[in-house]
Amino acid sequence: AQYKQEASAFTAANAEAAENFRIKYLGTKGILKSVMGEMKNVPNENKKQFGQTVNELKSFLERKHAELKAAFESRETASSGMDLSLPGDPVSVGTRHPLTITRNRIVSIFKRLGFALAEGPDIEDDWHNFGAMNLPEDHPARDMQDTFYINQNPSWLLRTHTSSVQARVMETQKPPIRVICPGRVYRNETISARAHCFFHQVEGLYIDENVSFADLKQTLYFFVKEMFGNDVKVRFRPSYFPFTEPSAEMDISCRICEGEGCNVCKHTGWVEILGSGMVHPNVLENFGIDSNKYTGYAFGMGIERIAQLKYRVNDLRLYSQNDVRFLKQFTGAL
Ligand code: PHE
Repeated sequence: AQYKQEASAFTAANAEAAENFRIKYLGTKGILKSVMGEMKNVPNENKKQFGQTVNELKSFLERKHAELKAAFESRETASSGMDLSLPGDPVSVGTRHPLTITRNRIVSIFKRLGFALAEGPDIEDDWHNFGAMNLPEDHPARDMQDTFYINQNPSWLLRTHTSSVQARVMETQKPPIRVICPGRVYRNETISARAHCFFHQVEGLYIDENVSFADLKQTLYFFVKEMFGNDVKVRFRPSYFPFTEPSAEMDISCRICEGEGCNVCKHTGWVEILGSGMVHPNVLENFGIDSNKYTGYAFGMGIERIAQLKYRVNDLRLYSQNDVRFLKQFTGAL
């Protein structure tokens, strides 16, 4: 009974202490052995009783030893060499595509001016892409060489510009209309550093009473300053688009070529970033908008080009090659 009491008070802090318990009570020179050795001194009539007590003590000590070991081992695995204060393994997160970053920036600048987001389908019909946009039947842009037609059926095509979304919006909304329309467009061009068979545009459309060319210019000036900062120079050149009259293209000072070969501005120092103009009255009338009451402006810009200038990308193909060395340079950019 005395040994039993003594043994139950035993706790083990580590493997060594549990082993010490085993040696002390269960070992070859341990207490159990010496108690068993007393058997020969026990009078015959008490031998049975003594044997039983010793057996009880033995199984008690064995259980106790197993408990001590188990308690210690479970503590051991709970903290098995694991330092919970260390930082975790880094999970490498992907990056946003530079075209996505650029599109988001463009859209957010125009949203601040009150433009709403609008989208349209990539697969369009002739009317929304060309007809409604005042492109005559024989306009060269409709040529199979520029336009991807679907299944040889010329009534379906991949949109060649986001101006098709203008048509979609005017079809369903009444002025005042103020929308910004990002999207992918397709043209059958030979792929090079300067051209691709698909690219991305952002279209803007504003129709209301008394919208003027001055409004267009100020809006685009504001955009350029927000996008590229105050140092960038801007110029307008007269141009022609069937869906705007008058029309203008906007150039900004090139930020890519600094002495080295420049794919973007061909060393003129200027690079065109968008087409624009006052919405042609025919386009308004195509959608039942009274061109005597309402005027509007529209513009369309290439996202690839804006991103090239923003991030000094000298080859358009980089955008679609998925080369991680290129993409990871945009880590953290939003
Ligand atoms: N759709 C024209 C293009 O793709 C750009 C543009 C849009 C021009 C709106 C004027 C007005 O080149």
